[in-house]
Amino acid sequence: MAIQPVKSVKIVEVGPRDGLQNEKVIIDTGAKLAFIGKLAAAGLKYIEVTSFVHPKAIPQLSDALDVVKGLPALPGMHYSALVPNLKGLERALESGIREIAVFTATSNTFTQRNINMTVNESFEAFQPVVQRALAEGLFVRGYVSTAFYCPYEGKIDSAATLDVTQRLLALGVQEVSIGDTIGQATPQDVTTTMTHLLQHVPVEKLAMHFHDTNGLALENVAASLALGLSIFDSSAGGLGGCPYAPGASGNLSTDALVGFLESQGIATGIDLNLLKEASAAIRKVLSNAEPELDDIGSLQNLAVNPRVES
Ligand code: HMG
Ligand code: MG
Repeated sequence: MAIQPVKSVKIVEVGPRDGLQNEKVIIDTGAKLAFIGKLAAAGLKYIEVTSFVHPKAIPQLSDALDVVKGLPALPGMHYSALVPNLKGLERALESGIREIAVFTATSNTFTQRNINMTVNESFEAFQPVVQRALAEGLFVRGYVSTAFYCPYEGKIDSAATLDVTQRLLALGVQEVSIGDTIGQATPQDVTTTMTHLLQHVPVEKLAMHFHDTNGLALENVAASLALGLSIFDSSAGGLGGCPYAPGASGNLSTDALVGFLESQGIATGIDLNLLKEASAAIRKVLSNAEPELDDIGSLQNLAVNPRVES
């Protein structure tokens, strides 16, 4: 089918979740809510605000319930949160959030370390989660991590990425985000894998989630746009990383993404100055929260995903 030129995009801001989850020093709920408020003021409509995961796996997001309960009630906002299992869904429903995302990967080693399940076990866990969430009228997204490269298993064949994507769609998820978890994909990798996926999956179901380890995230966005893909995840100020993916660096920066899209004549509706203020403000909070030397010993003792080696 002919590729339609992309005229508008959906940007999913993941800074409050993916951006903050790797930050060791816990920042307070008020600072997170102020950050989210600034992102919304800049014009971002889709914001992934937290995760209902085990608090020991991601201590930074253990205040998920309070974050969601404190969100500014603004018209047209789509707030979402990660949910790994039924326990997470119960907590999400209690918070009142209306959009969730389940997350798996192409690689068994990565999913074991990340969520203590094989890929097949993750689908067994997600089946009742997605079924219940859809019955409650929630929007459900699915993530495919290690879609191009895995920190443990190396280069991933596009057939594996397609398989996990199709299994998520078969569960009923409404959008699938394709993750370059450790930021190793090149534009050629993006073109190869996504061309394969697009032979089987409608373009409007697919989002691209780039980390920027090698500085290629914007080139990967350009390669995606050339295929008609128009949903991009990014993080204000380029914060981010996954503690269970060695080598994962910051996400594609929303500031850079917006600047790039506008330069390509694709309007985003986002006020870049306000966005830069939001990014600078959260960076300031994080640098003010950096540990004193005396605190470093106790931070190294933080329990992280006790069932897995990382
Ligand atoms: P587990 O230890 O296997 O869990 O962890 P379990 O089911 O065996 O339960 C053990 C205990 O944990 C039980 O408590 C449960 O109730 C409790 P007990 O009965 O012993 O008192 N529990 C929970 N508590 C709170 N919330 C929950 C929950 N689930 C169980 N949801 C689990 C499995 C999945 C929970 C854990 O491994 C986990 O939370 N992992 C999350 C890791 C994570 O958040 N990683 C980062 C996100 S993924 C990412 O960044 C990639 C992405 O950005 C895309 C990309 O870049 O590629 C999305
Ligand atoms: Mg990520």
